[in-house]
Amino acid sequence: MKQQLESIRNIALQAIEKAEDHQTLENLRIKYLGKKGELTAILKQMGKLSAEERPIIGQLANDIRSAIEETFAVRVSHLKETLLLQKLKHETIDVTLPGKRRELGAKHPLSIVLDEIKEIFIGMGFDIVEGPEVESDYYNFEALNIPKNHPARDTQDTFYINENVVLRTQTSPVQIRTMETRQPPIRIISPGRVYRSDAVDATHSPLFHQIEGLVVDKGITFADLKGTLETFVKRLYGENSVVRFRPHHFPFTEPSAEVDVQCFSCHGDGCRLCKQEGWIEILGCGMVHPKVLKNCGIDPEVFSGFALGMGLERVVMRRYNIDDMRLFYENDIRFLKQF
Ligand code: FA5
Ligand code: MG
Repeated sequence: MKQQLESIRNIALQAIEKAEDHQTLENLRIKYLGKKGELTAILKQMGKLSAEERPIIGQLANDIRSAIEETFAVRVSHLKETLLLQKLKHETIDVTLPGKRRELGAKHPLSIVLDEIKEIFIGMGFDIVEGPEVESDYYNFEALNIPKNHPARDTQDTFYINENVVLRTQTSPVQIRTMETRQPPIRIISPGRVYRSDAVDATHSPLFHQIEGLVVDKGITFADLKGTLETFVKRLYGENSVVRFRPHHFPFTEPSAEVDVQCFSCHGDGCRLCKQEGWIEILGCGMVHPKVLKNCGIDPEVFSGFALGMGLERVVMRRYNIDDMRLFYENDIRFLKQF
């Protein structure tokens, strides 16, 4: 038995020291130290020994077990270290290689100018509110004094979802939603997407952006509207920018006007961009119609207000001298990189 034990020790220690990977080591551990291992098998026969032999063999078996365990532990840590070294060798980084350059995104020109516009109006005490793009006929038309069959509906070719639901053709429904839920004094702007089945050209798109403005308080006059717009235009375009007010008609404002900027392509001479007019319309505005105030439960005898709705794309075109609206939507990186 003593000889058997010693031969197990010699073979086991040699095998462990030669093991080159963790799997081999694990197999050896099971073979020699496991419950069904060789060492255990021999110890099971201890019963056959005499009382004097038993403690001697027992002691020897324990020594061998410790020796195997110790060799085993040394080998495991040695293997770990070798593996780590190998890994490090494989994964070395050549710091002299040129790096991969990441393309940085940037703000879209529409967002850049929208942010400027918000800043200007916030500076004049306006809040920013939003409204839904899928809108009921009531908010997009009826409440704005545009009943069914009114000719003004023809000027805003509408995408209908069903008879009573539309993709909003303007941001003006946010006027109604605001006046229904807030008491004067009201000073808000509301930017957002609007939809019209307009044919695409240099100044028209079926999806574009408007910014609605609404002020309601006691004693608001057309002079407040003009002053606000003048301040806005000068802040955005500079002191010497040329704009004009032109009388117009909207069912929800009275009186009404449109504001044009001088064509920045031909400077007023007439060209393809301005359709030979020398001017490009950027917004509609006027004094909120008494009927609209009444529709929202605001007494027109006590309060008055003005409203405006500007086309963001055209404002941005003038700001950066961009002569075709389609450039905003094509996402050509050569165009977008210029801002
Ligand atoms: C309106 O939509 C009115 N809701 C504006 C308004 C608000 C008037 C409050 C009075 C009080 P209009 O249809 O003219 O008006 O459009 C306003 C602006 O949107 C235009 O001046 C123009 O700048 C822009 N716009 C209109 N149609 C398009 C289009 N197809 N593509 C790009 N911009 C457009
Ligand atoms: Mg118009």
